[in-house]
Amino acid sequence: MTAFFHRQNGALAVEQVPLARIAAEFGTPTYVYSRAALTSTYEAYAAACKGRRARVQYAMKANSNLAVLQVFAKLGAGFDIVSGGELLRVLAAGGDPRKVVFSGVGKTEAEMALALSHDVRGFNVESVPELDRLNAVAGRVGKRARVSLRINPDVDAKTHPYISTGLKGNKFGVAFEDVMQTYRTAAALPHLEVTGIDCHIGSQITEVAPYLEALDKVLDVVEALAREGIDLEHIDVGGGLGITYDDETPPDITGFATTLLERVAARGHGHREVLFEPGRSLVGNAGALLTTVEFLKPGAAKNFCIVDAAMNDLARPAMYEAYHRIEAVSPRSDAAVTYDIVGPVCESGDWLGRDRALAVQPGDLLAVMSAGAYGFVMSSNYNTRGRAAEVLVDGDQVHLVRERERAEDLFRNERLLKD
Ligand code: LLP
Repeated sequence: MTAFFHRQNGALAVEQVPLARIAAEFGTPTYVYSRAALTSTYEAYAAACKGRRARVQYAMKANSNLAVLQVFAKLGAGFDIVSGGELLRVLAAGGDPRKVVFSGVGKTEAEMALALSHDVRGFNVESVPELDRLNAVAGRVGKRARVSLRINPDVDAKTHPYISTGLKGNKFGVAFEDVMQTYRTAAALPHLEVTGIDCHIGSQITEVAPYLEALDKVLDVVEALAREGIDLEHIDVGGGLGITYDDETPPDITGFATTLLERVAARGHGHREVLFEPGRSLVGNAGALLTTVEFLKPGAAKNFCIVDAAMNDLARPAMYEAYHRIEAVSPRSDAAVTYDIVGPVCESGDWLGRDRALAVQPGDLLAVMSAGAYGFVMSSNYNTRGRAAEVLVDGDQVHLVRERERAEDLFRNERLLKD
């Protein structure tokens, strides 16, 4: 439980609003976010950045609802994007495109041109072919693209293999041994301006040590480049800081960010701007997925609690066997029974939690906690299920920030054959 999701007379509430009220008004499944929680994590990064050349680029892939982006834009955040679509979201939310960095291994020409037309702050480039493409597109539209190379520092972030990105075997970044040559190539291209360096070693990282290991390698590169006359303006340390889903103990945000900033300063680079690209640590614990129990199904080997949210709403358990705490919104005093919490989708992988002790009855509400990051954004329409509603709570105010999808929304773009 966080300060923002808490119990009021035993019932789960977000800020000043009981979750039961949200379910009654908007139905379930519904994602619920706390504005105060979003603000507090942002402010925790901002506190470390204060008085230094450092800023936060929210990795909006974690949660790209327009209202969430709006909250961060108002707080002064920049954005880390990975598609043209994400850039259009930033614009729709009132964000400043000049505070946007464009990451990702597979940017298309159209996406590059779109980003250049909005004068984004820069591109995090991951390969020589991408440099060549960006140079050609920039030349065509008459601009110089600001470029930072994402290097692969070959550091073990000690996290789930699907979300570890800084090891040699990954598709991400420029291999460490090729970094200097790739910078020379970039510096020689006429429509590019080399401005920075970037690395991102993985996600849900709960220790500082891998960050410092990667940062030292990044700073070695910065120094080697300076000796060749390539002077970088910024150092982007990526995102990846973990959150508490269960019993993990990640470093606190301000302490973590301060440690990295102090290392940069200690090595004599305090004049260069440091960019943080957090996603999960800004939004993960600011959201929960509210769902209703449909049926209880006792079984020979297992008891199932069948709810109205499913793997299409929250894919993380099915995809990564990820753990999310699941709480009864209004706990009953009956004896708890151990259930697998599953959805209605026709897959055995459709589960939200396994072996959870709960005292529940059909019609009860459950909250799947820590669902603010990589929750709604990874949802799908599998089984022709409309995607969930999203609600943002601000004090005692409840704002519907995305309507629940209706079935007709789902097949609107489909066409019947003529005969
Ligand atoms: N920067 C880059 C270049 C990234 O690829 C990512 C995330 C981030 C920043 C933000 O990382 P964060 O602070 O959120 O850890 N779907 C997975 C996580 C995938 C992360 C992808 N990259 C999950 O649900 O655990």
